[in-house]
Amino acid sequence: MIEVDSVPTLRWGIIGTGIAGPFVRAMHLHTTQRAVAVAARNPEKTRTFAREHAIEVVYDDASALFADPSIDVVYISTPHPQHHRLALEAIAAGKHALIEKPIAMSAAEAHEITDAGERAGLLVMEAMWTRYLPQSDIIRQLLADGALGQVNAVDANFGFSAPYDPEGRMWNKDLGGGALLDAGVYPISFASSVLGAPTSITAKGTLTSTGVDATAGLLLEHSDGSVALVATSMVTSVPTTATIMGSLGRLDVVSPFFGPTGLEVRTGSLGQEQTVAWRDERFDVLHDGMADEIVAFASYVAEGRTESPIHPHHEIVSVMNTIDEARRQIGTAS
Ligand SMILES: NC(=O)c1ccc[n+]([C@@H]2O[C@H](COP(=O)([O-])OP(=O)(O)OC[C@H]3O[C@@H](n4cnc5c(N)ncnc54)[C@H](OP(=O)(O)O)[C@@H]3O)[C@@H](O)[C@H]2O)c1
Repeated sequence: MIEVDSVPTLRWGIIGTGIAGPFVRAMHLHTTQRAVAVAARNPEKTRTFAREHAIEVVYDDASALFADPSIDVVYISTPHPQHHRLALEAIAAGKHALIEKPIAMSAAEAHEITDAGERAGLLVMEAMWTRYLPQSDIIRQLLADGALGQVNAVDANFGFSAPYDPEGRMWNKDLGGGALLDAGVYPISFASSVLGAPTSITAKGTLTSTGVDATAGLLLEHSDGSVALVATSMVTSVPTTATIMGSLGRLDVVSPFFGPTGLEVRTGSLGQEQTVAWRDERFDVLHDGMADEIVAFASYVAEGRTESPIHPHHEIVSVMNTIDEARRQIGTAS
């Protein structure tokens, strides 16, 4: 984990006022980074947001914020269909960009964004905050040490029952609706972090009356014979757990696995298992764990990086490719 005080304080511009609330709270409570400007379309809501989070400047639109030379980096947290346009505009304006998950609506869009960042020499990261948590660091170390033996399978899932709202961003296809893009990206990204890109993708699912994926089950196969089973839903409660299964033992990430929770590792033969547990008890509020990605982002800017070393651009694009293919097989309206 990177020490909070070891990174220079950057001036952040915030686009959006939804999940941006927990994000700025995490930043101001647990890091030395500072949100100094915010932009969204509804002026009253945006001014209230700025007041609540002690943000100095409110802009009427994202373009005005991007044009502010005093801003170092931007956090884009609009609904997903706007990520591509806003990210490209931010990069063209010379801003490093942290873009909410999913980084875009498709692998092609993700590729364009990451490519533009690389060409401009700017850091572009998807806000897959799970990657930057200490538990993910522990997992990476255990896997590198071979603690679980040959890893043969991953089982990861994330879903919930979203209230029916045909105008809301979960249900409306024009706002990027569907379980896969919103929730499924987490278990697919988790599986990718352990097993890499799949060589074969099989997806089954159901659609909502609005034409977006309501539930999805994915079987991801890999060149070494390992498999990942992924489930996601926006109409069903799902455990939101992740398990890595190997020849010497298994590792369970405590629910909800995408946030700071903890790990349980079971090794040894059946009936004689030894269990080691670890808990992340730093935060009372789950999304305060976003502080870890914020500090990591600032440290990578200081190091002159254009991509995250633990979530590289090719992997962001490959996860989007899996989502593209699953949405195609299920028949999600585009
Ligand atoms: N990391 C996480 O834990 C997490 C959690 C939830 C969501 N997310 C991701 O964050 C993104 C936003 O989700 P949300 O739940 O925050 O959605 P939301 O509650 O609908 O908020 C979206 C925000 O974007 C603003 N907005 C929309 N279009 C805009 C535009 N063209 N320019 C500037 N601002 C615009 C909206 O404000 P106005 O209407 O005033 O413009 C609103 O404040 C999604 O991609 C989602 O997947 C991540």
